[in-house]
Amino acid sequence: MKEEVLIIKKDSLDAINNCKTIQELNECKVKYLGKKGELTTVLRGMGKLSPEERPVIGSLVNEVRDELNKAFDEKQKELEKEELLKKLETENIDVTEPSKKIDLGSLHPITQIIDEVSEIFLGMGYEIADGPEVEKAIYNFDKLNTPPDHPARDIQDTFYITEDILLRSQTSPVQARVMENKKPPIKIICPGAVYRSDSIDSTHSPVFHQVEGLVIDKNISMTDLKGTLEMFAKKCLGKDTKLRFRPHHFPFTEPSAEVDVSCFVCGGKGCRVCKNEGWIELLGCGMVHPNVLNNCGIDPEIYSGFAFGFGVERIAMAKFGIDDMRLLFENDVRFLKQF
Ligand code: DAH
Repeated sequence: MKEEVLIIKKDSLDAINNCKTIQELNECKVKYLGKKGELTTVLRGMGKLSPEERPVIGSLVNEVRDELNKAFDEKQKELEKEELLKKLETENIDVTEPSKKIDLGSLHPITQIIDEVSEIFLGMGYEIADGPEVEKAIYNFDKLNTPPDHPARDIQDTFYITEDILLRSQTSPVQARVMENKKPPIKIICPGAVYRSDSIDSTHSPVFHQVEGLVIDKNISMTDLKGTLEMFAKKCLGKDTKLRFRPHHFPFTEPSAEVDVSCFVCGGKGCRVCKNEGWIELLGCGMVHPNVLNNCGIDPEIYSGFAFGFGVERIAMAKFGIDDMRLLFENDVRFLKQF
């Protein structure tokens, strides 16, 4: 039996030496040391041995197994090293080869304008407020002093989910939500999407974006509104921008005005962007109506405020020279790439 073990040892050491690959080595390991391997078979046959022989052969087998394991490990390391070297020799990497081009996206023009506007107002101490796009009619209309018979409430103009819930048609409901939840002083802007049941053409879309502004404090007057909008327009559209206030009507402000800016493309001389008018209509604004303050839990005897709201698409189109609003929503990469 001893002879047998020594033969197995010699055979397997030879076999290990002759292995050329890790796979061959693994097969060899199974053959000699595996569960059904030659050495294990010897161990199984030990029952036939005399009690004196058993420990002698047992420790010899253990010794041989340790030795073989060591030989396998060493050979494994050697083969791994060889394979790595072979790989390094055959797979050469050309570090000068140009890499694959990665297409980087850019911010959508609407997002760019919203970011720019937000930055300007944050710089003037405003906070950014947010509100739901699926809104209660009471916030979109009633609290904003817009009575049930107002034309904006018509089913032709507004997308209703139920009788009381709709897709907000303006960002103004955020005013009411903020006033209900916060004591003055309030100084917020709210950028976001709004929805109207308009058919699509080059200047209309059923979804577009607005930025709402609201300031409530003691002693806020129309001069604060004018100063704020002037500062904003100069920062956003150029330092020579002039403002023109035209009287207007909004249910939630009194007095109300529409504001035009001198055309920032031609400086007011008249061009394609301002349709030869020299002025571009920019926004609606006014002093917050006392009814709105009352509806939202703010005492109009103590506090006053101004509000304004404008369309982001209009500014984006004028600033980037885009002549069709549909381009802003089609998400054609060839168009968006330009910004
Ligand atoms: N919500 C108005 C609109 O969608 C815009 C607007 C006008 C907002 C006057 C205001 C405002 O806050 O004071 O046409």
